[in-house]
Amino acid sequence: MAFFKLTDEQLMIQSMVREFSRKVVAATAAERDKTKEFPIDNLKQMGELGLMGMMIPVEYGGEGADTISYVLALSEIAYSCAATAVVMSVHNSIVCESIIKFGTEQQKKKYLPQLADAKIIGAFALTEPHAGSDPVDQNTSAVKQGDHYVINGTKRFITSGKNGGLVIVTAKTDEEKKHKGISAFLVEKDTPGLIVGNIEDKMGLRASDTTDLIFENCRIPAENMLGNEGDGFKIAMTGLDGGRIGIAAQSIGVAQASLDAAIKYAKGREQFGQKISKFQGLRWYIAEMATEIEAARQLMFSAAAMKDRKEKYTTQASMAKLFASEMVNRITGRCLQIHGGYGFTKDYPIERFYRDARVFTIYEGTSEIQKVVISNNIFKDKRK
Ligand code: CAA
Repeated sequence: MAFFKLTDEQLMIQSMVREFSRKVVAATAAERDKTKEFPIDNLKQMGELGLMGMMIPVEYGGEGADTISYVLALSEIAYSCAATAVVMSVHNSIVCESIIKFGTEQQKKKYLPQLADAKIIGAFALTEPHAGSDPVDQNTSAVKQGDHYVINGTKRFITSGKNGGLVIVTAKTDEEKKHKGISAFLVEKDTPGLIVGNIEDKMGLRASDTTDLIFENCRIPAENMLGNEGDGFKIAMTGLDGGRIGIAAQSIGVAQASLDAAIKYAKGREQFGQKISKFQGLRWYIAEMATEIEAARQLMFSAAAMKDRKEKYTTQASMAKLFASEMVNRITGRCLQIHGGYGFTKDYPIERFYRDARVFTIYEGTSEIQKVVISNNIFKDKRK
């Protein structure tokens, strides 16, 4: 459902991904949550289906799809496995999109086909141990030496830090210039001096690795700079605009999976001599949750459509991310409640959905940061 009609092509992509996701991705999601095994086999198959380079132009090996098709596909993957979805999201929304938008012809030719095929997985390294919500305060430095830059510093909470093959890294090239002194680099994973540090033991999204990346005199050819010197903060913020629509899509996928699981449970569970789905209190919960998911979906479509029309969509992306990520946390909690004691066990997937959703209000900008972005754009000037 949408305030505009989805095209036949968008509906076809949604239905193809739904079938793949519920058959293939869902089959191993619970096991991966236990073992933390990275879903590389899912991702390879997704590469074959065109899901790892969805918005990459056809001439660089991608599908040339629009953002609406992409968020429909991402929601379907998140429905079955949120850990696979976050890898798909960072890869497509931030890494591929940043190269498409800011890369040189040479960078596009070199990296986009490999990303589209999932031969390499993309990672994005902005956050540092002491610079999360305020990435301008980062310490990682890149010093020019001849035709190379030498990068030193530590990045934290990097999705696919271990399993990624290409990392977009931000680093300070000029300490004095604050955000205008930050640059972005494309760093190949096997570059000497790039070390995978601590791997986080997380509450959710356990099959997606989240790591420190340590740069120790890591020498990068100057041609691997993305954009111009000083463009790094703008590149990161532009990438996060698209990324935040992706987090809305993940939230909607997990919320829909939770609601469907709660409905199934309620239709099977009897108490006081009748199915609990007959109780009006429960039915009202279901109605409220379905309405909230639909509202989030419309915000996501609105931001995605604006992006496709090449309008400025920063505010709408943050609104979609804020609303959808808060919504899925309310919904997973309520759906777990509907499952009663069983919801608190690993016998039902709602327990995993509840844990997976928790980070959605945190990563790619906390809910509080989304409110900063939205209000700054409303007031136009953050000081007034
Ligand atoms: N697009 C393009 N440019 C933008 C922009 C956007 N959306 N937002 C800001 N900018 C530009 C501004 O135009 C300005 O440039 P000029 O000086 O040239 O005009 C510059 O950036 C600085 O803007 P602000 O003064 O508004 O920046 P700020 O320092 O006040 O910070 C902020 C703004 C919104 C708080 C920002 O720091 C922010 O988004 N913080 C959160 C960071 C974040 O989301 N981190 C998540 C980590 S990544 C992750 O989680 C990925 C993962 O692996 C899952």
